[in-house]
Amino acid sequence: MTRDGATADGGTPLGLPWSTGVVRGTDGAVRVAGVDVRDLAATHGTPAYVLDEADLRARARAYRSAFETACAQVGTGVDVYYAGKALLTRAVARWVHAEGLRVDTASGGELAVALAAGVPGAHLGLHGNNKSEDELRTALDTGVGRIIVDSLVEVDRLADLVRAHRGDGGAPAPVMVRVTTGVHAGGHEFISTAHEDQKFGLSLAAVPGGDSPALTALLRVVARPELRLLGIHSHIGSQILDPSGFAVAAQRVLALRAELHARTGVLVDEVDLGGGYGIAYLPGEVPLDPDRIAKEVAQAVADACRDLGQPLPRLSIEPGRAIVGPAGLTLYTVGTVKPVRLEDGRVRTYVSVDGGMSDNIRPALYGAHYHAEVVSRTSDAAPVLARVVGKHCESGDVVVHEVRLPGDVRAGDLLAVAATGAYGRSMSSNYNLLTRPPVVAVTAGESRVLVRRETVDDLLALDVAAD
Ligand code: LLP
Repeated sequence: MTRDGATADGGTPLGLPWSTGVVRGTDGAVRVAGVDVRDLAATHGTPAYVLDEADLRARARAYRSAFETACAQVGTGVDVYYAGKALLTRAVARWVHAEGLRVDTASGGELAVALAAGVPGAHLGLHGNNKSEDELRTALDTGVGRIIVDSLVEVDRLADLVRAHRGDGGAPAPVMVRVTTGVHAGGHEFISTAHEDQKFGLSLAAVPGGDSPALTALLRVVARPELRLLGIHSHIGSQILDPSGFAVAAQRVLALRAELHARTGVLVDEVDLGGGYGIAYLPGEVPLDPDRIAKEVAQAVADACRDLGQPLPRLSIEPGRAIVGPAGLTLYTVGTVKPVRLEDGRVRTYVSVDGGMSDNIRPALYGAHYHAEVVSRTSDAAPVLARVVGKHCESGDVVVHEVRLPGDVRAGDLLAVAATGAYGRSMSSNYNLLTRPPVVAVTAGESRVLVRRETVDDLLALDVAAD
């Protein structure tokens, strides 16, 4: 890259919210990690999820090194778990593991993919507020390094399973207890998992005349010899752009750790502060900076431990979106363009693409905003106010609420939506029996399919009774 930001062949990196490998060439077409989007569309079809491998790996490294450096400075260590719910394929699991991350799973399916990728059980965590006995048994069988228990019922369920499974002589199962700290952070109520009035974790809030549910669960784990209490877990929300909540949650978790120590003499070794690091979805948005957040969190933990007179725990974090979100884009083909006159006289150009809410439910579910550009060419036409919509039978089937697109946007143009790597594919559906797009990786001028496109035959294969 030259000093003004242009690449050696004169291309211009588009910058955030696009991945670092997204460059508009001098011919007007966009390349991802050196591959022209027109070639991607010709080879893999559209819609397609496109992942910039180098960008994804660099984000994994950035989080790991930021937290390792900041934690070393205050005198402790850290493990970074990639939250597989954001997007999990075998290749993605291998990439993040090769970058020194572990993997956090939240179901038997995610666990199976991570194991199939070769990630050792000891480097996996298993989450879930309602894990099945099968899921718990698989975790025990495959030596999952931490099972994060989410209710009192589950503490006993897991301990009983260990007893039935391994007998009295077996090794205890490694357990963390997920607590809710009362810190509410993140972009949307549905994704703010530390509210008190929600299904996750055990509250730190004291119950009149008794211990908090969180302390009760910790005491129960300590009392069950089939379980080994590794630590305390807290996840405060998602798409967090204001880092202050992490420090407050850390202080509350550490106070709970001190209380457990005082009551039982048990000092847990680890504190997991979850994920939730926010990214840029729109031009001009500023993502959380890993170095800054790592320093703030490590310092908050160190200060709280000093004030409590406690030794530092080992830390862990679980970023998902911040690793994979910006590394992904979705490539669509424009099908129809329709000007619609609004009440106030303005005209909105509805641009329909060949996917929609089945490949990205986030705009419909959370009112999430995205950025899009025509990527197969440039245009001198004056921009128009556009809404990018999908092909589903629903007026809420919006891909991008509002974006300025060239006034001559037309059928056959390729349109890319930025920062769709997290919670796009992983929350996709077959609504209207659309087939799910492939996940295509692009690495140093080469593209390859990680997950193939679904076919109508796949749909029919599941539909087993004709009458
Ligand atoms: N750890 C735990 C325990 C979690 O519940 C989550 C996300 C993460 C880590 C990763 O959070 P991240 O770093 O990706 O923000 N579907 C929603 C997000 C739901 C997040 C649920 N838990 C969305 O599309 O925004």
